[in-house]
This record gives sequence, C-alpha cells and structure tokens, in this order.
Amino acid sequence: MRELSAEQKNKITSLLEQMTIEEKIGQLNQISPSIVGGFDVSFEELIEMMTDGRISKEEFGRIMAGARQDYHDDVNRAGGLSSVLSSDPEVCNQLQKIAVEETRLGIPLIFGFDVIHGFRTVVPIALAEAGTFEPELMEKSARIAAKESRASGISWHFSPMVDISRDARWGRISEGPGEDPYLASVFARAKVRGQQGDDRDPSGYVASCLKHYVAYGACESGRDYNTVSMAKSMLHNAYLPPFKAAVEEGAATVMASFNDLNGVPCTMNEYTLRTVLREKYGFDGFVVSDANAIKECIIHGYAQDEADAAEKALNAGMDMDMGTWIYSHQLKKAVEEGRVPMERLDDAVRRILQVKMWLSLFDKPYVTEEEIHRYDVLPQEHLDHALEAAEKSIVLLKNEKGLLPLKKDQKISLIGALAAEKEEVLGSWAMSGRASDCVTIQQGLMNAGADFSYYPCCTPESEIDEKETDAAIAAGDILVAVVGEYASMSGEASSRADIILPGKQRELLEKLVASGKPVVALLMNGRPLALPWESEHIPAIVECWHLGIQMGNAVARVLFGEVNPGGKLTCTFPSASGQCPMYYNAPKTGRPGSRSKFTSRYLDVPSAPLYPFGFGLSYTTFEYGDLAVEQTADTLAVSVTLKNTGDVAGSEVVQLYMHDVAASLVRPAKELKGFRKVTLEPGESRKVTVALPKEQMGFYDDDMEYHLEDGAFILYMGGNSRDCLSETVTVKF
Ligand code: BGC
Repeated sequence: MRELSAEQKNKITSLLEQMTIEEKIGQLNQISPSIVGGFDVSFEELIEMMTDGRISKEEFGRIMAGARQDYHDDVNRAGGLSSVLSSDPEVCNQLQKIAVEETRLGIPLIFGFDVIHGFRTVVPIALAEAGTFEPELMEKSARIAAKESRASGISWHFSPMVDISRDARWGRISEGPGEDPYLASVFARAKVRGQQGDDRDPSGYVASCLKHYVAYGACESGRDYNTVSMAKSMLHNAYLPPFKAAVEEGAATVMASFNDLNGVPCTMNEYTLRTVLREKYGFDGFVVSDANAIKECIIHGYAQDEADAAEKALNAGMDMDMGTWIYSHQLKKAVEEGRVPMERLDDAVRRILQVKMWLSLFDKPYVTEEEIHRYDVLPQEHLDHALEAAEKSIVLLKNEKGLLPLKKDQKISLIGALAAEKEEVLGSWAMSGRASDCVTIQQGLMNAGADFSYYPCCTPESEIDEKETDAAIAAGDILVAVVGEYASMSGEASSRADIILPGKQRELLEKLVASGKPVVALLMNGRPLALPWESEHIPAIVECWHLGIQMGNAVARVLFGEVNPGGKLTCTFPSASGQCPMYYNAPKTGRPGSRSKFTSRYLDVPSAPLYPFGFGLSYTTFEYGDLAVEQTADTLAVSVTLKNTGDVAGSEVVQLYMHDVAASLVRPAKELKGFRKVTLEPGESRKVTVALPKEQMGFYDDDMEYHLEDGAFILYMGGNSRDCLSETVTVKF
C-alpha cells in the first residue's frame, strides 16, 4: 500500500474523533445479505446446502435470483456496516449510496468478493498457474481481474490464497500455488503486485487479502477445517514465507484461517496475529476473519460464548468480523467493561479506514454505468492472456514413443463427459465466470479443425455407457480420453480420502487400453491424483487441470503441437493416497526410504512419488551439464549448460535446490531456492545461472530466530526436484 498523504491521515484522525462507539464498531462489521421470505435460511446455510448436495447449483442460482435479500439498510444507515460481500454492481451502488449519503459521517462501504483466479476472465486455478513459473504472467492475471472487478464495484479480492498445501486429499490445494514456500512466495508477490500495483488509478487496483492465515493447508489427514499441530520452526520455514513475502510487497489485508494452530484458533491467535504479523512483519493493513469464524470459536471450545468470542478475537488482533454480527452485538459492552481497550478498537477502525482511503473509496465510492458495461464484451487482450496462461500451465506427464503431438489428419475419438461440460473448465471458486465464455475441449478441437467424433461415455460420477464406448473405440485411430474431477470435487469442503480417478473412469480407461488402440489421457482435476495404473499403461498423459475460459483452445494447441508444453508440477503426485501428505521438501529422516527393510517406507506401495515436484516434460528434450558454483562474499552463482537436444523449440524451467548437510535443526532433503525459465531452439545450448543470496540459505528456529550456519551445502540443478546435477560446497556466512 502506498503511504497515505498527510491530508488523508488527518481526515482519518478527524473521523475517529467524531465517531461514536457504535459507529466505530460498525466499521468492524462485514456482512453478506440475509435471505428473507419463502426461504428461511441464511446465505451461508444455502451455500452449505449446495455444497453437500441437498440442492443443485442450478437450484441455488434460482433461489438466489428469486429470493428477497435483506442488505440491512437500516443498520447501514445508522453506520453499522463497513463491508458487504457482493458482486452485483447495481447493489453495490445502492448500498454505497446509503453509506455515503445517508450516514452521519459518510464513510464508504468496501465490497469484497472471492476473485481467486480471475473475475470474468477466469484463468487457470492457482495450482496450475504457479506451474508456469512466470511471475509476470501471474501478475497480469491478477491485474486483469482487478480491473474487471473494480468496474463492478468490487475493490477487495479475497485472494491470493497462499496456503502451502502438501496433502493432495485437501480440496483447497487447488486454490493455492502448491507445496513449495519459495514458489508460493514468488506467486504471492506477483499477485499482490497485480492486484495493488496500479494504485494511482482507481479503476485499476484492488486490495489483496492474503489467506488463509495460517497453516490451514496442514489440516490433519487433509480433511478441511481440521486441527493443525506444528512446530513453530516448521511454521516459519514452510507455511509463513508466502505471507511474509506478500506483506513485504504491501498486501493491504489478511484473512485468518478456520483451523486451530497448536490449540489456538487462528481467528483469535495472538501469536500469529499480533506477535508475527504485526510486530515481526510490520503489517499495517487489517485482518478479517473467515466466514462465521468468530462464532465457530465457540464450537471449537476456545470461547465460552459470544461475549467471550468478541473479546478474545479483537484483543488478539482480529479487526473485522465476517458474517457473525458478534462484534456488533458484543463489543460495546466489552469496551465499556474494560475487557477490550478503546485503543484496540480505534486501532482496528484506523486500519480499516486507511485501506478504504487508499482504495480511493472516499473520492470515488460508486461505479458508473460506463464502468459497469466496460467488460460486457471481453477485450481481446484478456482472452489472449487467458489462452497464454492456460497453454503455459499444461504439464506433459508422459509421452511414450512420441505419440504426441497428434496430427490433424488422425481420426480421433474424443471420449469423456468432462470434455464438453462448459463450466467445468472454470474450476473451483469462479463464481463470476460465465458459461458463455467457456471453451470446452470439445469446442477447442472443433476450433482447431480436428477430425474427431465425440463420445461422452461416462462422467466422474456415472456408469459407463458400454455401447457408446465400443462405438468410440471402433471409430478412432487414436482415443483421447478426458478424465478427472468435477470442479466441485476440489476447493472448499471438498476433501477426498482416496484421490484416485473418481467413479468408473479408470474402468473406462482400462477398456480403451484393452482395445489396443493408442490412448491419450487428458487429466482435468484440481489436485494431484494417484494414478499408478494409468501412468503404467497409458502411453501419453497430459495434466490439463482446470484451465479457465480458454481451456479448450489451449489443450487443442498443445495436442496438435502448435504449443510445446512447458508447465511444471507445483505439487507432488503420490502413487497412492496412503502416501499423503507427500512433498519433496520434507525433513530428512535417519533412514531414507529404500529397498531395504528397516527404512522409512511402505510394504505395499513405493516410497517414491509418481511424479515429483517441478516435473513436466516437453515435446523436445533438454540435457543438463557443467554444473558450476561460484562463490562471492554474499552470493552463490550456480550455473549449468542447458542444451535443447530435440527437434523443436521448447521452454525449460531450470530449478535450483539446496540441502544443508548438517544443521542445528533437521533440514529438508531439498529446498527450491531459485529458478529460471528459458526457451531454446533445437540444438541450442545456453549457460543458465541462478543466483542464491547467502542470506537465503538459513532457517528459523522455534523462537523465530534466523540461523545462518557455516558448513557444507549440496546444490542441485535440474528440470525437476528429483533429477538433478549436484555439487557440494562449503559456505561461511
Ligand atoms: C472461505 C474463504 C472465502 C470466504 C468468503 C469462506 O468459506 O474459506 O476462502 O474467502 O468464505 O466467501
């Protein structure tokens, strides 16, 4: 956040002086509309009903369209609202008019929304987009989303989601940049720059909200909302770095996570909210709770009742209450009784007003008609970007005997219902995406002029249509199967215990393989899947994720070789669900898994992953040689010679990893410390150097002390976290 001018700061001070305690507390209240009449449940319950399948997505849409929504105008008029979750620009303007023109002090509302991977221009899910290893691209996606949403009245994105997630069972792994703290930090910075960077033009920037703070991705057994126990050293070394990086980049807000951390819910955790975030990182924005989380601390068994919950949350540093009204109902008494100091209340209000001021909401509270319709037709630049991001996120997992790319004159049978279901390309959390913008894989093949016939055969949940499958096999020279997960199978409250291909899709693939015809599997999923059979028997496998509105065009261009895939995995693919959590940068054991009995391994499944972090093939091949390390007083320059040994141009992400051989705390077997993405013509060689500042070679202990310890380090360079060249060096700090 850019520093406010003296005049803006004075205005905030003067507002604070004029505010009644009720008005102050009002600034801490964020609501979503209540649904009234005919349908007697809250918005949150309705969402829950849709999530657990009691009502369909379509029914949800119908109810919302028909329901009368109570936006609590009277409370707004009395200065009792600060923020509303909304994506309808007309509604935003109406509510804003009350706040600005009818309240005593005219403080504008701030409208927040879950813009996770695009507003209308939906780009790949974060788990996929981070695999481009291109921060400029990640930044541009965020910039486009900021412009589109701001034109709709939304100036606060509940993103980036930067939870490190190492357990593929957790559905929310789809929303974030994966398992690695370094890559996640690069992603976090890029997103904050994209959202907030243009902060002199009110039509171009929004406030970021880093979430979910913190360690939410480490929920036990990958079950959403579950408890988290973790050494503080692990918290600081693995889970906090992307938050720290994004705060350094100027992120305006933070959302606390639902989980408890070592027994204390993150919603009211003084250590994380006060000691780390404010005191250590110097965060000067505000913190919002996750939806209903303040109330849920009573169910956690950490707060006795609503009064206790309000007191504990505000005192711990929770500035804004999302959705429970507990602050509105409880804080006045808590302040009057001295259980919450007035200074803490003032501090929270000041933080919120600062963000509103920085967002120019005082000067430009409304969106104009022109803005509301600015993106009715998506600009070509946005479409081009969505296509580029999708193409670059695709990961080639296997390509035996050069089966790919396909030729346009090959007769293709395109198989699988996911290939044609429009909204499935959007992935989790894409509520502002429109079906009419979505290009399915079927449509993409049509656009590419491919010679193909389409056979749905089975969905992720249905039986197999045997007749149709036989027809598909008979018709094609090559069988292209689109298999994976529905978008709703990842994201919030979508944990899976067994991360195999859902439903009968594996049987479908078995049948296709048994036909003897070549099979290509296009995976469409929001998490790593355990695919040992598939990876053994299917000659070509492409990880397509949920790639956003241009998915079909991107997949077709990769299939036919117009684009050479260069995406890399941001998360380990286990070979069995029972290996979860599985991640490459785990602390080393004294008995690393091997073939011998008394090592850290399983009797029934391999100890190695199916595909490691950083993995991804290309239509060309790359050779690594001449690893060299040059050391200066404060940097290691690590280089390799990279050669494109194939027939086509291609991009490679050269990855630098490090291992601290002996340290005062057990360190990860490997840690990503830098990367460079390069494009080489066939036969071209290039020396690629990645600099590793020595100050980044340390680690935190449980007391937040950072250690740089002299000694031996192994440096690795390669195209993924498994296959690397290495060299050992001695480093003095
Ligand atoms: C999710 C958040 C989201 C919030 C508001 C919660 O259920 O955990 O990620 O930002 O809802 O929609």
